[in-house]
Amino acid sequence: MVGRHLCRILSKRKLRFRALVRPTSDRSLLEGFGGWLIEGDLTRPESLKQPLEGVRQVIHLAGAVRAQDPSLYSTVNTQGTENLLRAANDAGAERLVLLSSDTVAKVDRDAYATSKAASEQEAWRVAREGSLTCVVLRAPMILGPGSRHLRVLQRLARLPAVPVPRGAARRRPVWVGDVSHALLQALQIPQEALPNTAIDLGGAEALSLGELIQAVAKCRQQRPPKLLHVTPRSLTAVAGLMEQLGFSLPVGRKVVSSLTEEIPYDPGPASKLINWEPTPLTSALDLSLNDH
Ligand SMILES: NC(=O)c1ccc[n+]([C@@H]2O[C@H](COP(=O)([O-])OP(=O)(O)OC[C@H]3O[C@@H](n4cnc5c(N)ncnc54)[C@H](OP(=O)(O)O)[C@@H]3O)[C@@H](O)[C@H]2O)c1
Repeated sequence: MVGRHLCRILSKRKLRFRALVRPTSDRSLLEGFGGWLIEGDLTRPESLKQPLEGVRQVIHLAGAVRAQDPSLYSTVNTQGTENLLRAANDAGAERLVLLSSDTVAKVDRDAYATSKAASEQEAWRVAREGSLTCVVLRAPMILGPGSRHLRVLQRLARLPAVPVPRGAARRRPVWVGDVSHALLQALQIPQEALPNTAIDLGGAEALSLGELIQAVAKCRQQRPPKLLHVTPRSLTAVAGLMEQLGFSLPVGRKVVSSLTEEIPYDPGPASKLINWEPTPLTSALDLSLNDH
């Protein structure tokens, strides 16, 4: 999702780029953007040599985000990032920008968040030891055409009523266009100004899951569902029971337990280093959902 949007911007700016694709990737998503599609796979280090030949800057978006097999998170996100960093260093690249996730800041990390946290550590290690400089951007939920999160939110927004956990934490969903611009800005941060921590990318507004579902409904000009505030414990119990009975819920048990955890957000580095001015939520939703 982010890769497609970034390629569109690179193409508009007439920048020369290669997009790494796997033999199995759906290339039609990148057609017409003027990039050179080149095959490689993060889990096969030898396949990364050719794509990186002569490359000065790397934007690393590849990752396992919804894996059936949980071991893939560490194979692709951690080991794969290490392979890419090593290959970029060997190829003489100057800068690598890694797109990480704000879930790394959670206390109770799942396998995905653990693998992303480890990939950040790997980036800092390489940056300390090699000539490649690294910037890590941490994004919350990214909104854009093709977003999986939005598909779930749209399903929930069509219901007449939605149970939401009381005391749900607030999140700052962010527009994919803002993330793409941030990735390009991060390539330009002068070496002497590079931060040694991740740069948080937060959307313009912070809102709870229930408020977000209602905003999605309004954007689609539907009647917003009624929010039924229940305790996180009872919502977790109901979600668990429904899963055991074989019902496919848009929000599973694990999601419920993570909904109440606040994730720290520091807007300072982004506004100082990459001129971060996120798009308002209503525009981000409109651009994502209304087929512009
Ligand atoms: N979406 C969000 O809300 C969000 C939030 C925070 C951070 N992020 C991070 O942003 C990045 C992009 O996310 P996205 O939402 O754009 O996900 P996406 O649409 O699933 O894109 C991930 C891409 O990674 C590629 N990939 C997977 N395994 C690979 C491998 N072994 N070698 C090479 N490429 C591989 C996939 O290739 P195929 O097309 O061949 O499957 C896919 O194109 C990820 O690193 C994710 O952790 C996303």
